[in-house]
Amino acid sequence: MKQMNNPYKLAYHIEPATGLLNDPNGLIKFKDTFYFFHQWNRFSTDHSYKEWGLFTSNDMVHWSNHGSAIIPDRDIDMNGVYSGSAVEHDEKMYLYYTGNVKKDMKRKSYQCISISEDGRTFIKQANAIETPDEYTENFRDPKVWKGTKNWWMIVGAQTKELKGAVALFSSENLLEWNYENILHDVGLDNMCECPDLISINEDIDILLCCPQKIAEVGSTTQVSSYSAFLAGKFNEDSQSFHTDMYLELMDQGFDFYAPQTFMDNQGRRIVVAWMSRMTDEEELLCPTNKLFNYLHCLTLPRVLTWEDNMLKQKPITELKKLRKKKEQYDLPENTFELESGHFEIHLIRTHTHSDFDIQLRNKAITINYNSKNQVLFVERENWVSHKREYKSKQVNQLKSLQLYSDNSTIEIFINDGESVFSMRYFTQEDDLTVHYKGLKQGEILNYFPF
Ligand code: FRU
Repeated sequence: MKQMNNPYKLAYHIEPATGLLNDPNGLIKFKDTFYFFHQWNRFSTDHSYKEWGLFTSNDMVHWSNHGSAIIPDRDIDMNGVYSGSAVEHDEKMYLYYTGNVKKDMKRKSYQCISISEDGRTFIKQANAIETPDEYTENFRDPKVWKGTKNWWMIVGAQTKELKGAVALFSSENLLEWNYENILHDVGLDNMCECPDLISINEDIDILLCCPQKIAEVGSTTQVSSYSAFLAGKFNEDSQSFHTDMYLELMDQGFDFYAPQTFMDNQGRRIVVAWMSRMTDEEELLCPTNKLFNYLHCLTLPRVLTWEDNMLKQKPITELKKLRKKKEQYDLPENTFELESGHFEIHLIRTHTHSDFDIQLRNKAITINYNSKNQVLFVERENWVSHKREYKSKQVNQLKSLQLYSDNSTIEIFINDGESVFSMRYFTQEDDLTVHYKGLKQGEILNYFPF
């Protein structure tokens, strides 16, 4: 039988061979290798089962899939090995995850520990954290890091008043943990998923969080959530996080959630997220699911920096190795054919206050900068409704646009990472036309086929 060609297959992003992938977990550089674990249902493309799958890499561009790493197999994690993080200590990898237990329709959560010396065998530990009294059992996604005097852990939480919160724990030895206090609980809706706290420079710490709204509509529960950040300062002595800021979106596109960061051995702070915010219907009808029985992927790794009072996200420079050659376009308006759906386009503008339009893959994705209103629009066709839908962001000047397409993903970096739009798109294999207009004299559009 002829194998059906898969026009959505990704070449340089992490996606599962089968089943459903969600959050990145336990991101770490350990003994010269990058370990990216992830939430995985290896049995089907719904959310009924969760374990940790594992991919490794030497460069974060080419990946090896190792399949299952941590599976639900004991009383305190029998209904799911949920999200968590990793740290290295004494040449061992310490992995923290939430053990999800559902008994008689009631949820219970345990923050669990697993240790690995070789990155292949994972030994679950007896120690586990039970939920402190002031929270409901919506308590998950431990993120651990080394402080100046001890280890810290934050956990995404819901208070008994049904407010979103971030809970803080401390430890001397990575195995026994003490609950300290609520680190943050402003603007986090009804629950906070996947918190992360990082130092971005000497003065500024960034709290990443995913506030979740839970509403009972008739007899159904509706859940909506998004990924956001706050810049502020974590005070280790008073165990508090101070900020004057409101939550800001991490990403402007359709598909970005549950980001996690880690520090690599070059001192880069790298963030990776789950590239999906699909509704149940979108998941069901997603072409990779319908035709090929797998769903979702992770974003590209991006370096986080704080510049000009902004959190910037830049694609890792290792991605340059994917460039096979460079083609340059300088006409004000032009149409050209891509070699395939895997490519990069990079434009640096000198006329930052003028309109620019680009249509990719026969309008599967259109990007439009309206200089009068100073707004950037990104539009795609929805695969369920077949209607056009768009996202937009105020952009005062369009200084640069860099985009990575991997057949059915696109990540658009505006002004050197000031804003990013991440999303899936599904098109025909032969939709390879690019049309642009609005290039000014002296400007060059660079096309890199991969
Ligand atoms: C976020 C999340 C986490 C949880 C995991 C379960 O997408 O809901 O809070 O640990 O997914 O797969």
